[in-house]
Amino acid sequence: MNDVTDRSSERELIDKAKRVLPGGSFGNFPGDIVIREGRGGRVWDENGKEYVDFLLGSGPMLVGHAHPEVTAAAQARVAQGTTFFANNRYGIELAEAIVDAVPCAEQVRFVSTGSEADLYAMRAARAFRRRDKILKFEGGYHGMSDYSLMSLAPKRSGNFPQPVPDSAGIPRSLRDEILVAPFNDIDVVASLVREHRDELAGIIVEPFQRIIPPAPGFLEGLRKITAENGILLIFDEVVTGFRLAYGGAQEYYGVVPDLCTLGKVIGGGFPLAAVAGRADIMAHFDRGAVGDEGFLMQVGTLSGNPVAAAAGLATLEILRRPGAYEHLFATGRKLMGTLAELLKGNGLAGQVTGEPPLFDVVFSAEPVRDYRGTLRGDGDRLRRFNSLLRERGVLKGESKYYVSLAHTPEDIRHTYNAWASALEALVAR
Ligand SMILES: Cc1ncc(COP(=O)(O)O)c(C=O)c1O
Repeated sequence: MNDVTDRSSERELIDKAKRVLPGGSFGNFPGDIVIREGRGGRVWDENGKEYVDFLLGSGPMLVGHAHPEVTAAAQARVAQGTTFFANNRYGIELAEAIVDAVPCAEQVRFVSTGSEADLYAMRAARAFRRRDKILKFEGGYHGMSDYSLMSLAPKRSGNFPQPVPDSAGIPRSLRDEILVAPFNDIDVVASLVREHRDELAGIIVEPFQRIIPPAPGFLEGLRKITAENGILLIFDEVVTGFRLAYGGAQEYYGVVPDLCTLGKVIGGGFPLAAVAGRADIMAHFDRGAVGDEGFLMQVGTLSGNPVAAAAGLATLEILRRPGAYEHLFATGRKLMGTLAELLKGNGLAGQVTGEPPLFDVVFSAEPVRDYRGTLRGDGDRLRRFNSLLRERGVLKGESKYYVSLAHTPEDIRHTYNAWASALEALVAR
């Protein structure tokens, strides 16, 4: 399986990475681990250490690593040429599968990353409404564009609705184009919409923000306010698409936006993402339909790539099988319940928050409703817990467990044992 030509040890690779990569990593995950391979719900590092994997490539590998059907679908395409720029059968069929599955999706435009999808969804809202401002929520992740990197993870709390840029290099002028509200606070949204209704093109929201579920009525409130004021509602479903349900968060929570963005699962582990939504809005991607004035320019070398689309189609086929989501949710529910019990048993204040396919603990005595609630959690304790788990063969992101259909009862048992032992070590300090 391991066919890399360079047989350097993990230590040598880590040192090499420090020389040739800024910060010694690809920017995603700390560079002190180098993953060699993955199968099902497990991965192995270059030292051969085995982990139950809840990182799941940051979410795409919902059906597990190297799933035989996804691998076969991708391999069949690779042998027939990997990219053409022109339309291909697999991209067209994947678009059709998305239209069939996702309630708001009448048409689909493919791109390669979730960042791009969010950038173009916001641009589509501006083109359609002919207004400039977008409202987003503090702590909401919509990729890495200049517009999105506003109040994603502010170190100091800003005053709503002023955005706090998350990165160097973002033009000052863009701060005027983004309004920021607290997640789950419909009253603040209503008052901002009242004040800015003639300038607002759209509201973009993660319907399930990071690991925070929407409060009852919040998404319905957003839908009502946007519809009444002629503002577009964009659901960022890069994480939740095909994960919370086959039709995504919009099916799961029963609120249909005007546009949504998709990524991760739909590419089956390859680079592919999409904007999907109402045909009258999507028409702005078509110069023939809207003319030069309204035309939204969008081209991408690898958009609708056939290998990624075939892998995505194979993934969706697996997800359509009877019982797939019941199984995913049953696994996640067991994990969430056991973690909550173990925290209690160890006398630790912690909230296991999320939905069964993705969740984490926030070490806080208070339930978490928004980004500031997450900040009230003990971040050092979470980091220490994560690192104790890694020593015990459980790999996860900084603040998320992604559950896979491929996690076996043995993976779950291993995780329970690792949690019990890591929590014991955590309280013994
Ligand atoms: C909700 C959400 N939107 C957008 C993105 C950006 O996707 P990508 O990393 O493919 O650019 C992410 C990435 O994790 C995400 O979680």
